[in-house]
Amino acid sequence: MENEIEEEQVQEGSDHREISVAEFFEKNKHLLGFENPQKSIITVVKEAVDNSLDACEEEDILPEIQVLIDDIGDQKSRVEIRDNAIGLSRENIPKVFGKLLYGSKFHKLQQSRGQQGIGISASAMYAQLTTGEPVTVYSKQEGEPCHKFVVRINTEKNEPEILEDEVIEPESDEFPGDKDYYFDHGTTIEMDVEAKYTRGHHSVRNYLKHTAIMNPYARVVLREPDGNKIEYPRVSKELPERPKEIKPHPHGVQLGVMLRMIDNSDARTVSSFLQNEFTRVGRTSAEKICEEADIDDGRRPNTLDKDESEQILDAAQEVNLQSPPTDCLSPLGEDLMLKGLEKELNPEYSTAVTRKPTVYQGNPFQVEVGLAWGGDIKDEGSFNELRYANKVPLLYKKSACVTTKAIEDVSWNRYNISQTGSRPQGPLYISIHIASVWVPFTSEGKEAVANYDPIRKEMKLALQEAGRKLGKYLKRKERKEVQEKKRRQLTSYAQEMGPAIAELAGKGNPDKIEDQIQQMVQEDYNPEQL
Ligand SMILES: Nc1ncnc2c1ncn2[C@@H]1O[C@H](COP(=O)(O)OP(=O)(O)OP(=O)(O)O)[C@@H](O)[C@H]1O
Ligand SMILES: [Mg+2]
Repeated sequence: MENEIEEEQVQEGSDHREISVAEFFEKNKHLLGFENPQKSIITVVKEAVDNSLDACEEEDILPEIQVLIDDIGDQKSRVEIRDNAIGLSRENIPKVFGKLLYGSKFHKLQQSRGQQGIGISASAMYAQLTTGEPVTVYSKQEGEPCHKFVVRINTEKNEPEILEDEVIEPESDEFPGDKDYYFDHGTTIEMDVEAKYTRGHHSVRNYLKHTAIMNPYARVVLREPDGNKIEYPRVSKELPERPKEIKPHPHGVQLGVMLRMIDNSDARTVSSFLQNEFTRVGRTSAEKICEEADIDDGRRPNTLDKDESEQILDAAQEVNLQSPPTDCLSPLGEDLMLKGLEKELNPEYSTAVTRKPTVYQGNPFQVEVGLAWGGDIKDEGSFNELRYANKVPLLYKKSACVTTKAIEDVSWNRYNISQTGSRPQGPLYISIHIASVWVPFTSEGKEAVANYDPIRKEMKLALQEAGRKLGKYLKRKERKEVQEKKRRQLTSYAQEMGPAIAELAGKGNPDKIEDQIQQMVQEDYNPEQL
């Protein structure tokens, strides 16, 4: 009898339902950076600003971004973000803001800030969840009218619901932007969110300051809830080289992906499949891979079964292939790194190192490090870590991040930098940037980079190189300070020695002797010229 009841419950199956990705993330919003009102407002701004910068760089536009935040009471804020990027097409607007996992970057192997197609729609969902309000978007593409959409997400279906859809005339008061901010192309997003606006380390301000350091070619303006305006100025009109899209490298592809690639390919032979769908596989390497895998290179790819596909992937590991091309990366470069650090931190000394690109698990990546020392950086004793992935600041989960581990791997006192435990002492800022076509984040929230050996090794080498340069500077400075101290001492003796020598010699002008001694202790003193 008992068994019968159990069977009946299972058969009914009424508890089993499909879960939409939007429902999942609504319940698990902490996974996307919305765990509390203080962090959530940073996440909302971050997702929008990242997108704006990506979209500007895609078309070589010098970014112009405004972040306007108003307190609307009841622990809620209205956040408005405007950019001068390329805008969005009418068809895409509702999906970009009203559907999770919809984007243009996920399938591309090319460096960008966004990866997953979830950032801005998750912010819209958070707004809707916490204030019940839909998101308003104005977007204008060059030569097109400005579209206004009011969109909400149907979380059960993970589909957008369009509440308003109209064209806004440029003369209309509703046209986004101040009169001195007429954007011929760009996007403005408005959303109401539950938020707590703060000013400490974890704040919108700090996130934008860090962004400004890594993106010195962008001009960003922040209006805080109390009306205070902060401008992060543009100090360079030069954008980093635009990254190119690449195909996957056979060393970075797993079986499941390979099977899908076979399904989607219209290549007629295994050899042409390998050449067309992968980077760094030419005719000879394709033949070698097939030979190694013991598979006829003239076979149709869709006749390969799972085991044979795996054989091909394994064979590719054995064949010597060139590393993937690295023009898919867009590092900031040493000059711009220095400009960014100098404009926001005004240090006494700064240095930057951009390493050559290299590869982890078939994915190209590149590491950059900047050090800024002294000057306006006052916090003696401690040091500040600025972590970046594809030019995006990472403010959370520091201890889980490979950057922190790499800093701890370096023996800082070898470079004249004092150390407490394994951490260097300031007044110092260390910025570490990883640029990659696919940054291995530890979670969907994109907050920390996974501790992979090749990445940590590159970071350590970059830190050591930069550390050596800073060490040299500090040594020179120390030597100068010692000399200066000696000089000061000798100068004070000179006043007494002038009269004393004149008296001892029974002749000579004490003032003249003092002058001569003073000359001898100066930095440019040259005994040969006496
Ligand atoms: N301000 C903007 N200007 C132009 N296009 C944009 C803008 N914001 C978003 N988009 C487009 O919308 C897509 C979805 O954005 P979304 O932030 O949700 O995902 P993503 O940036 O691709 O990845 P991630 O989830 O990692 O942020 C982007 O891929 C981009 O094509
Ligand atoms: Mg994004």
